[in-house]
Amino acid sequence: MKRAVLAILICVMVWASIVAAKDEKSLIADHCLGCHEMDKICSVPAEADEQWWQETVERMFSYKPDMMTERQAMDAVSILSDPQRKAKVCK
Ligand code: HEC
Repeated sequence: MKRAVLAILICVMVWASIVAAKDEKSLIADHCLGCHEMDKICSVPAEADEQWWQETVERMFSYKPDMMTERQAMDAVSILSDPQRKAKVCK
């Protein structure tokens, strides 16, 4: 019985991480394309740190203030400055 619970728990966790990765990709894809392709975002070297992304997303905001909400922009910055999460977005 314990094993079944554990198996279900693992399935839910795997599913949640797949859904989260999908959401992260669509957050970027739904809001950041239109002026340029994903290339522009994905070709940024991994050295770009959180501060660089923060400044870049702020600059994008100045081009299009209704691009996304503040909250979404903060999420975008944390996704893009994390190499693993960025890799999933760029897959
Ligand atoms: C309103 C149009 C527009 C939107 C929306 C937009 N961008 Fe941009 N983006 C530009 C333009 C124009 C440039 C080239 C000039 C520049 O770098 O400021 C650019 C350049 C970039 C660059 C290259 C910057 C560099 O210095 O190499 C990155 C990375 C980028 N955008 C990421 C994003 C992300 C992430 C989003 C969504 C949060 C986004 N953009 C949304 C217009 C836009």
